[in-house]
Amino acid sequence: MEVERVQALAYGGLRELPAQFIRPAHERPENSKAIEGVTVPVISLSLPHDLLVHEIFKACNEWGFFLITDHGISPALIEELKEVGQKFFRLPQGEKEKYANDHAAGKFEGYGTKMTKNHEEKVEWIDYYFHIMSPPSKVNYEIWPQNPPSYRKVTEEYDKELSKVTDRLLELLSEGLGLEGKVLKSCLGGEKIEVEMKINMYPPCPQPELALGVEPHTDMSALTLLVPNDVAGLQVWKDENWVAVDYVPNAIFVHVGDQIEILSNGKYKSVLHRSLVNKERMRMSWAVFYVPPHETSIGPLPDLVDDQNPAKFSTKTYAEFRYRKFNKIPQ
Ligand code: SIN
Ligand code: FE2
Repeated sequence: MEVERVQALAYGGLRELPAQFIRPAHERPENSKAIEGVTVPVISLSLPHDLLVHEIFKACNEWGFFLITDHGISPALIEELKEVGQKFFRLPQGEKEKYANDHAAGKFEGYGTKMTKNHEEKVEWIDYYFHIMSPPSKVNYEIWPQNPPSYRKVTEEYDKELSKVTDRLLELLSEGLGLEGKVLKSCLGGEKIEVEMKINMYPPCPQPELALGVEPHTDMSALTLLVPNDVAGLQVWKDENWVAVDYVPNAIFVHVGDQIEILSNGKYKSVLHRSLVNKERMRMSWAVFYVPPHETSIGPLPDLVDDQNPAKFSTKTYAEFRYRKFNKIPQ
């Protein structure tokens, strides 16, 4: 099936935004600007332990979003990750198409463009690459980019390093709930936790004030850890306002997703967020999703539920949650 890629459209000398990308008035960035003077939490992982637990609890409780610094991943590795991703997207269109995904055929991994129109019949200004990184039994290296040749080595190394950071975050988040450090990870399948890479590529957009890179949504993951290139564009929803997230070199963006919100019975918030696009520059981001194995049941942790704190969410398998979310069926 022939798919029109946003990248090909953008670099084809486009002056005006095609109708399917023009958002309804209330959604346009020009009519829903970010609030001035508010900034997202930035937390150093080298803080003393008790203070760190407290700061992370607060960020997850009030925002569902924060940036981390001093996380131990080398700037050189983050740079390499970005380079191999950028090199892939710079390949000739025909090369990239060899990796095209095909949702209708159940092929979710690979190179893609979101084509399903939303209720307003609008699409997003984005192409992407999606593949599973872990556990090994679920990885299909044939679907990973073969070009540049170092893609696999660099990405595997990043996966390994990032997963250490995630393990540590899950421990800190467990402790923030008054639980033993290992609780959240084990609810998410322990070593069977699934790790997915999504490289987001937002080409320059002729009329960025009318478009969105990604519509407002919460992630269905447990946690999402993301690094962007140096073009800002992410916004998070806080107290009825959009808050723009600045680029901080080498910081990792942490999103609390739906599964942690559910496990914590709402103590931690799944953050609503969206991304904007840029007129001159291509924006890219590397989002890594940590999700439970599909057959795992996820519901509020029994330790957090009592007469004063009734369960706010129903318990269901991740597969069922995902099916409902994709099909917009209430949870
Ligand atoms: C997303 O949340 O889907 C993308 C976020 C980003 O590109 O910063
Ligand atoms: Fe997201």
